[in-house]
Amino acid sequence: MNKTRRIALITGGVGGIGTAICKRIARDGHFVIANYAIPGTEEKWNRAMAAVGLNGSASALAFGDVTQFDAMGDMVRKIEREHGPIDILVNCAGITRDATFKKMTLEQWRAVLATNLDSVFNVTRHVIDGMTERGWGRIVNISSVNALKGQFGQTNYSAAKAGMHGFSKALAQEVVKKGVTVNTVSPGYVETDMVRAMKPEILQSIVEQIPMGRLAQPEEIAGLVAYLASEEAGYITGANISINGGLHMV
Ligand code: CAA
Repeated sequence: MNKTRRIALITGGVGGIGTAICKRIARDGHFVIANYAIPGTEEKWNRAMAAVGLNGSASALAFGDVTQFDAMGDMVRKIEREHGPIDILVNCAGITRDATFKKMTLEQWRAVLATNLDSVFNVTRHVIDGMTERGWGRIVNISSVNALKGQFGQTNYSAAKAGMHGFSKALAQEVVKKGVTVNTVSPGYVETDMVRAMKPEILQSIVEQIPMGRLAQPEEIAGLVAYLASEEAGYITGANISINGGLHMV
């Protein structure tokens, strides 16, 4: 059980998986800060948090573009000034720009690498020293089943999400003696707006390949993330944990 109330920053915290993670970590007794980058996207999050009584004293919002290193530094310093040191970081910001490789533009490649992978550096770099100095920290990176198995139409996304695995294993070794764990969670197809945006017939063909026969619920991913962020997960580091209904078994 978590006894210490910690400050948790969730990048992309207003998205489908991000909101579920915010709710779950706040329910575990921590103070949660949801980062968002597009004005207006926080409104749904506000309603969702208020509906379960986790707004106000349990959570806050922080605006900032995860692709911008200096903006992330400013955001982290503001959060730490206003709320206290960040002990839990969940790198959850992510986008897709799906296209077969022969049609993929440089812009689609760069957008996905910047938001899904550069972001991990841009945010983690600003919180890691505080965590190691205080001797406690939890970093959870949200990757994807498509990092592990590859996905037709996602060379950019699969590359960025696979990069998160290498990052997590390398950083885990550097901070292991300082009480900081770094892990990756690789969800399969989760019922969120990102997945709902796929062509229905393509999504249906993917669901047919999932042994469990259904999409994941965001809350199922949040439960695993909250566990990795907890005191009791202190011996898990450098791990990648799949949560994909059996779509890809490794
Ligand atoms: N394997 C092999 N061939 C395939 C294929 C597959 N999985 N899917 C399509 N093809 C073939 C098609 O049959 C077609 O062949 P012909 O030219 O011979 O007819 C050819 O490839 C072109 O396919 P599309 O018509 O699909 O090409 P498109 O340009 O219209 O669409 C695409 C491309 C947008 C990438 C589309 O294929 C697609 O949406 N794919 C799914 C991508 C996906 O899974 N995205 C996940 C988003 S959610 C997410 O990312 C969250 C997470 O972490 C899981």
